[in-house]
Amino acid sequence: MIRYRYPRIPESEVTPKPLLDSRRRFLRQGAALGAVAAAPGLLWSADAKAWQSKLEGRLEEALASSDLANGEAPTSLRDITTYNNFYEFGTGKRDPEVYGHRLVTDPWSLAIEGEVDKAGTFALEDVLAGQMLEERIYRHRCVEAWSKVIPWAGFPLADLLKRHGPTSRAKYVVFETIHDPDNLRGQRRSIIEWPYREALRIDEAMHPLTMLAVGLYGEVMPNQNGAPIRLVVPWKYGFKSIKSIVRIALVEERPTTSWHDRNPEEYGFYANVNPGVDHPRWSQARERRIGESGRRETLMFNGYADEVAHLYADMDLHRHY
Ligand code: MTE
Repeated sequence: MIRYRYPRIPESEVTPKPLLDSRRRFLRQGAALGAVAAAPGLLWSADAKAWQSKLEGRLEEALASSDLANGEAPTSLRDITTYNNFYEFGTGKRDPEVYGHRLVTDPWSLAIEGEVDKAGTFALEDVLAGQMLEERIYRHRCVEAWSKVIPWAGFPLADLLKRHGPTSRAKYVVFETIHDPDNLRGQRRSIIEWPYREALRIDEAMHPLTMLAVGLYGEVMPNQNGAPIRLVVPWKYGFKSIKSIVRIALVEERPTTSWHDRNPEEYGFYANVNPGVDHPRWSQARERRIGESGRRETLMFNGYADEVAHLYADMDLHRHY
């Protein structure tokens, strides 16, 4: 078994080679932990605050890369954590790094509601207990025509949803970010209707590429990237990948979503990366990779067409953008 530890990356230095060479490996939890997580009545653990230190250990000890970015070099940790969209902290790209420390992530709980057999509010630690963590390097393409390549750590959203037993009426999955205007200065301004809300169709949510991420570059998720738990849907524009999730609800009707409601012409519900469908104010044919000069061609479904195109086989993607 190959063990790989990430180097601490001080600056804009990346070390893509070991990342790309390292093999896929999964963290297997001990049976005892799994049993605790599954036992009814134990879902609220006494030491909810412990999730962070436990997760650190798990991320450091047993991560390995599965390269789903076709060998493209990961963006530097510095660029990943200093050029962000997280409007809860302001609209500037540096705001999330500067103000992110105000986000209180420990303790954290996640409500899972609606069309599920097992609804409730769960300490994050219990959500993570017994869950295999996996690292995946994904392309990350923002609607604003910039992109990154990010080594995320997390697990398929489908794992979580299946554990809660979606009913046959569950057609969409809604996600909400924490609402805490005292600490999140952006939420004192009406940039969008808070809290930030996103949604996926159930088949998109259950797709094996769709992840809940709790870390990146082998470390616990930085606040500015959506600590402690965020969505990652690599074939869609970044605004679908909602950060700092406190609520997941399975519903029958298509729900409202923040950016689509604010401006449906500019932000479609599907938001699939598509170089052939421009944003009304700019082209989506090319993108700027953060940390690189020049522009590169944008790939259909962000390069994940083989995996996801079938989800939209009967749809006019110009109309359902
Ligand atoms: N989630 C919340 N809660 N608030 C936000 O402002 N911005 C979105 C998405 N998730 C956003 C969010 C947008 S527009 C993008 S491009 C990505 O997060 C950016 O992720 P990154 O900062 O990790 O690159």
